[in-house]
Amino acid sequence: GRVAVLFGGDSAERAISLKSGGAVLRALREAGVNAEALDPAEEGLVRLMAGKFDRAFIVLHGRGGEDGTIQGALESMGIPYTGSGVLGSALAMDKLRSKRLWQGEGLPTPPFALARDEVELEAAMAAVGFPMVVKPSREGSSIGMSLVHDAEALKIAWREAAALDDQVLLERYVQGGEYTAGILGDWVLPMIRLQTPHAFYDYAAKYESDTTEYHCPCGLSEAREAELAALCRRAFASVDGNHWGRVDFMLDADDQPWLLEVNTVPGMTDHSLVPMAAQVAGMDFPSLVVRILAATLD
Ligand code: DAL
Ligand code: MG
Repeated sequence: GRVAVLFGGDSAERAISLKSGGAVLRALREAGVNAEALDPAEEGLVRLMAGKFDRAFIVLHGRGGEDGTIQGALESMGIPYTGSGVLGSALAMDKLRSKRLWQGEGLPTPPFALARDEVELEAAMAAVGFPMVVKPSREGSSIGMSLVHDAEALKIAWREAAALDDQVLLERYVQGGEYTAGILGDWVLPMIRLQTPHAFYDYAAKYESDTTEYHCPCGLSEAREAELAALCRRAFASVDGNHWGRVDFMLDADDQPWLLEVNTVPGMTDHSLVPMAAQVAGMDFPSLVVRILAATLD
């Protein structure tokens, strides 16, 4: 049957999605799948409704594509699609709600507060304390994020984040190592430790820098990695994640984990983290892509 590969879109992560989607499309075609490119920002949904597509591979990052919107449209059209459903996508896109769920289940996530306006900002600042990370609750690729050390920088950072989302999250900064765990079905892929000379793993460190180091295997003992994998699996299940995704977390100086977020459509460029971890586990990019698609038949 025909597979619609949805990528592009009009979120702030469009450029990344074009790269991820291009790589997925090529890999599917190489594997002999009859795959077509559809961009929701360019009549992709009209073509999806008109066309005879049996399945959809979602490679949209950010709002409109990773947040349940497209997933809902596909549900309505009766087209099976990759990854998480409407609820899981919406929850994982929303860092504030993800953190509330984890907190409710006793899973570790850094202290946080919501600051929707400058009045709330005062109380939130006092509750969270410096240093803190300021984030639009529903954004990706570190867009609109800042690490701040004082009230003056916080005000500027808040305005930047508030321009992207009316829900701004203040989160206590965790000093330590940044890790990520790819999820593929019942399997947690080998974890990656990220090391960057930037203040944090920001947009430039993710996509533009050649100074970011990726360590996989990550250097933890097998037993410790297995414990953390169980935590990541719970974090993913807690936001109703389905089949594949990526869980990002920090390990502090005392080796305690702190969950940051779940990505339900993680980057899939050939330099991205999930493909990197899959490769270490012995699975090449085309096999990874075919496996993600195959789960829509389950
Ligand atoms: N939001 C980006 C694409 C990622 O998580 O990889
Ligand atoms: Mg993200």
